Amino acid sequence: MLNNILIRNGTPADIDEIRRLVIDYGTTQWNVFPREDLEKHLDSIASGKAYAQLAFDENRIVGMVSFTIGSFYVEYESEASKQEPTGYIVEALTHPDFAKCGIGTRLLERAKAELADKGVRSIYAKRHEENRASEALMRKTGFQMIDLFHDPRRTTGSCKTAIERYSVK
Ligand SMILES: CC(C)(COP(=O)(O)OP(=O)(O)OC[C@H]1O[C@@H](n2cnc3c(N)ncnc32)[C@H](O)[C@@H]1OP(=O)(O)O)[C@@H](O)C(=O)NCCC(=O)NCCS
Repeated sequence: MLNNILIRNGTPADIDEIRRLVIDYGTTQWNVFPREDLEKHLDSIASGKAYAQLAFDENRIVGMVSFTIGSFYVEYESEASKQEPTGYIVEALTHPDFAKCGIGTRLLERAKAELADKGVRSIYAKRHEENRASEALMRKTGFQMIDLFHDPRRTTGSCKTAIERYSVK
């Protein structure tokens, strides 16, 4: 199935497709993207302040990984690196019909490469502790869990957030 999937950089013309994918499939027991935050993030992608790698089956969007650069989680950085920009994976999402085919891995690897090309040395992501699909994706793409804490914004399961980091080699 993966042979027919086209992976490419997202553009402002893709915003409506990304929005539809996230609204239709982004909310699970372990993953929530509040609509207001989603709209702000889509504006950032449209204006070039955030980025997306997208997967298409023919003309249908079937996966996305979106990301940005800023001062994310610098509290986990060494004193020498605290002033350096860090990358942050905002969302990773594969259409359920295409799950476990390697799309998430390919998208996240491309996101990592794009962030590395932009000079980022550390890439962060967060997930619900019990989000097993996300955990497996993180392990497969070389992220390491560096923190785990009770998160009052969460309302399901253990209500714990895991912080993941990938250090660019
Ligand atoms: C997380 C997500 C993006 C993974 O996408 P995907 O395209 O299925 O990922 P891949 O096919 O590249 O699989 C990566 C690894 O995760 C594993 N995996 C995928 N879904 C899984 C699941 N439901 N449970 C356990 N492992 C799972 C795969 O088996 C693979 O590991 P392996 O090669 O060691 O077997 C997808 O499950 C998703 O969209 N989830 C809903 C949104 C979400 O929770 N996003 C994460 C936000 S932090």
